[in-house]
Amino acid sequence: MVMTLELLAQRASLHFARRYERPPRWLAVAPGRVNLIGEHTDYNNGYVLPMAIERYTIVAAAPAENSRIRIASGQSPEEAEFSASQTIDRGVPEWANYVKGVVAGFQRRGVPVPGLEAWVESTVPLGGGLASSAALEVASATLLEAVTGVVLEPVEKAMLCQQAEHTFAGLPCGIMDQFAVTLAREGHLLLIDCKTRGFDLVPMNDPGMGVLIINSNVKHKLVESAYAARRAQCEEVARVLGVDSLRELNAPALEAGRGGLDPVGYRRARHVLEENARTLQAAEAIRSGDWPVAGRLMYESHESLRDLYEVSCVELDFLVEQARQIGEGGGVLGSRMTGGGFGGCTVSLVRSSAVEGIGSRIRDQYHREFGLLPTVFLSRPARGAAMV
Ligand code: GLA
Repeated sequence: MVMTLELLAQRASLHFARRYERPPRWLAVAPGRVNLIGEHTDYNNGYVLPMAIERYTIVAAAPAENSRIRIASGQSPEEAEFSASQTIDRGVPEWANYVKGVVAGFQRRGVPVPGLEAWVESTVPLGGGLASSAALEVASATLLEAVTGVVLEPVEKAMLCQQAEHTFAGLPCGIMDQFAVTLAREGHLLLIDCKTRGFDLVPMNDPGMGVLIINSNVKHKLVESAYAARRAQCEEVARVLGVDSLRELNAPALEAGRGGLDPVGYRRARHVLEENARTLQAAEAIRSGDWPVAGRLMYESHESLRDLYEVSCVELDFLVEQARQIGEGGGVLGSRMTGGGFGGCTVSLVRSSAVEGIGSRIRDQYHREFGLLPTVFLSRPARGAAMV
């Protein structure tokens, strides 16, 4: 059983008090997220369909007596300390760069940040494709809003956190994770238009259906460089075809321009165009409770990520294949990798009544194949970041 938010908050307070010998004044929380469909589309100004999950990162904090920020975590033995009043640079420990980047973002907006002592606790698996870094960034930004009294407009807050990831963690990510973690609503998916940065809420509260997340517990090397390479390939296709982003391209225009593209660029662009269409269709299907259609689109998304975008791996393919073999008769409607890829999690749409059996069957088969246990859990769509 994973810890509830209440217990996690108690734990963060307790550890804070042990470390700093007084209770925290603030507790800021942000969830992880899972993306149902719309993968590698966000930085192409496309559509995504994530929801926040019932896994959280909490930052507990209190004012310091000087202008330094000290931050420790239940997930790492290494602490960080830096000046809140001077220019901040990335450094070690690496996990603290997400927090530093957010503090730097407030400074850049002319918001002075005072000295703080802080403690982080989290139930979002680290590096598992469930936006653990966005959860830490957005929890930190939520804390700083409370501390400074400067409340950012939510989209700006998400963009400040995205910027932190770009400059302090070196990952040129899109806006999906920070946006979902900031703006998510209980019982809903967010259909985000990453071009306009507007969103629609898609209710996802049929008690008969569940979102099953399976963490492969592998993370392959080169994830960051492969991500940056995919982004660059997409931008190159857009440049060659004379559009601002792949969002501006349609299938006939891509086919017409195919001769001028290298085959890899063409495949990448085709994934993005088709994935955008699938995401809109899936949102529609979920709205009308058409689970078989939503599930089919998830399988198609996975195949495209595997074959055209080439960001899957054997472990993720295996998990999706096992889900497919259980099939609709066994309660699985659809399954796909979720997040950046090269490890991390799959997300599956399952009938609630069959969840237990599905989880244990896939767990056993994965263990037999790779000698490693995956982590399996269900999540309802949770709310976005807040003060506790
Ligand atoms: C990571 C990034 C997101 C998005 C996904 C792929 O999670 O942080 O911005 O690009 O990969 O869809």
